[in-house]
Amino acid sequence: MKRGGPVLAVDGPAAAGKGTLAKRLAAELNLPYLDTGLLYRAVGRLVLDAGQDPAAPAEDFARRLTAEDTQRKDLRTQEVARAASLVAAQPGVRSALVDTQRRFAQARGGVLDGRDIGTAIFPDADVKLFITASPATRALRRFLQLGEDPAADDAKARLAEMEAALKARDAADAGREAAPMQVADDAVVIETDTLGADDVLAEALRVVRERLGARVA
Ligand code: CDP
Repeated sequence: MKRGGPVLAVDGPAAAGKGTLAKRLAAELNLPYLDTGLLYRAVGRLVLDAGQDPAAPAEDFARRLTAEDTQRKDLRTQEVARAASLVAAQPGVRSALVDTQRRFAQARGGVLDGRDIGTAIFPDADVKLFITASPATRALRRFLQLGEDPAADDAKARLAEMEAALKARDAADAGREAAPMQVADDAVVIETDTLGADDVLAEALRVVRERLGARVA
């Protein structure tokens, strides 16, 4: 079925700045925005709340997911990220969430960020971006985002711990059989180690306008 607007896929590894970029792109282009990671985080959260092992089948939680579940304030922890990655490896969980993601963009198009948007959810996306940075850069971003204190005595150890957790999650996300994180053939890769948020947005907008021309504002 024809969609009511362009779809922009923003994929990449943990803490690469996908969310910041995707949100700003959506505002700039007046398109709806969906953080698909929140769907998996919400499933992970429900599984943890139920006292269940996140590696155990979680499809039922994904089928019953509500909008309120995805709006909870306690989805951004490392524990939930780990649980999200474990439930996200399950084909049953992923297929339960496919329609929600596709329907989201049906009426007006949209900007969606995640791991498999350009490869599995919208292989026909109008623009595909893959946002990445070195593990050290990403660990520092997540460290600051979580409000950790860089001057604390254990800051170095905490950073190293965070980097190890990100790498483990990336390896799981890229290595799983069900819709693994990978760069789509037709994606534009943006390396953000030396770029600030404004630079990343400018580069992304350049790509979008080159691809879509008059179809976007
Ligand atoms: O914010 P961050 O980049 O750390 O993670 P996220 O985007 O919130 O995603 C959390 C986890 O959900 C990821 O590690 C993936 O395992 C999973 N995920 C996925 O499998 N597919 C997506 N489209 C989005 C997230």
